[in-house]
Amino acid sequence: MSISLVILAAGQGSRMQSDLPKVLHKLASCPLVVHAMRAGRALDPERVVVVVGHGAEQVAAVVADEDPQAQIVTQPEQLGTAHAVDQARGALVGQAGDVVVLYGDTPFIRPETLEALQAARAAHDVVVLGFHAADPGRYGRLVANGDRLERIVEFKDATEDERAITLCNSGVLCADRAVLFDLIAEVGNNNASGEYYLTDVVALARAKGLSAGIVTCPEAETLGINTRAELAAAEAAFQAQARRDAMENGVTLQAPDTVIFAQDTFLGRDSVIEPYVVFGPDVTVESGATIRAFSHLEGAHVSRGAVVGPYARLRPGAELAEDVRIGNFVEVKNAQLGEGAKVNHLSYVGDADVGARANLGAGTVTCNYDGVFKHRTTIGEGAFIGSSTMLVAPVTVGAGALTGSGSVITRDVPAGDLALARAEQVNKPGLGAKLMDMLRARKAQKNKG
Ligand code: UD1
Ligand code: CA
Repeated sequence: MSISLVILAAGQGSRMQSDLPKVLHKLASCPLVVHAMRAGRALDPERVVVVVGHGAEQVAAVVADEDPQAQIVTQPEQLGTAHAVDQARGALVGQAGDVVVLYGDTPFIRPETLEALQAARAAHDVVVLGFHAADPGRYGRLVANGDRLERIVEFKDATEDERAITLCNSGVLCADRAVLFDLIAEVGNNNASGEYYLTDVVALARAKGLSAGIVTCPEAETLGINTRAELAAAEAAFQAQARRDAMENGVTLQAPDTVIFAQDTFLGRDSVIEPYVVFGPDVTVESGATIRAFSHLEGAHVSRGAVVGPYARLRPGAELAEDVRIGNFVEVKNAQLGEGAKVNHLSYVGDADVGARANLGAGTVTCNYDGVFKHRTTIGEGAFIGSSTMLVAPVTVGAGALTGSGSVITRDVPAGDLALARAEQVNKPGLGAKLMDMLRARKAQKNKG
């Protein structure tokens, strides 16, 4: 069965009090709309259509970055959820199979839930995802007769009796594409909000003799973000769950509450994460690697047995092979380090290829940027870079070569050579002691006067 996703992301989210469209606010380092897209991916959709409106260009750029195949349609005016879905009509003309509607501001829907929703379509023409709300507030209420859904009534339009219902609408819905768009064409806006409600398709379906069913999920999954406070609460919930999941999967977290995960952080079994580690997007840490305290990683891959930190920073494109050592106050960006390579202290390694077992001494800097262009540094296997060497890229240090401490290397160093690129030392006999005597005498004179 082929599936099309329609993700609604046109709203402004005025309660966020933000210039940024709501769906671009980040949860676990990942924009809300991308959470929805990734959740939907569990259904292996043939088509993904994202409905944008407020901040359309910005939202479209983020969507395209996540999924270049996704189709973007614009809803110029936000006239309601049915009107929003209707904007996808043209993009899905002739498409066989079901449409699943998701909201761009609802990041916690689990793949299992979407699968259950889709499976329930075997028994019903329209399936709605509902939940039992502890405090139903302003959610739409599901008016059901046994396991049959009769209609959905919005809070504003509900009677006292209907408001007493605690089974609520999550907004997620699934129906055959052709059936859904036929129903949407009949939705009017004669209601308390003057909006075209997607929820009206249920009553319209029932009036045609079609069946509607309900699949429920825990309330936590349907949590929608409307305010900064809700975003913060959602972040806390995400982090708590990510920590539990990591530990369940065999990761040691010495101080779980101090470790921050991104939506897509992957930590292998028996990896050890010390306190106060922050994972930005796109980090993989393989089995048995250790991330020591106060390190910050994003866009990085850490292989088995590697040790990173304390106080290390791995930026996008940091690729560490097995048993690499990255020590304190070391920054690595867009650089590959071969097996067993060591950069233990106070260094910057950017736009570089470092061979296996090479050792970069304290204070090594790859000078990769000339103010306009970035250049690469290549360091061969087993090379030894003396402390405080400046490697002015583009430059290559061959396998097994050495550079003297304090060198500024501007030309390639052939394999096995020793490169010394610093002023030669001059010793003046006795002059050190003489100078010190002179200075001390001057100080004594001053203290008297
Ligand atoms: C909607 C449901 C309600 C449900 C609740 C769950 C309707 C009529 N009501 O109400 O039953 O309990 O969600 O959270 O569907 N959007 C657009 N274009 C529009 C309108 C909305 O893209 O014209 C997007 C919004 O950006 C948002 C989502 O659709 O992501 C939901 O819209 P919102 O206005 O928040 O709906 P609710 O009133 O919360
Ligand atoms: Ca809402």
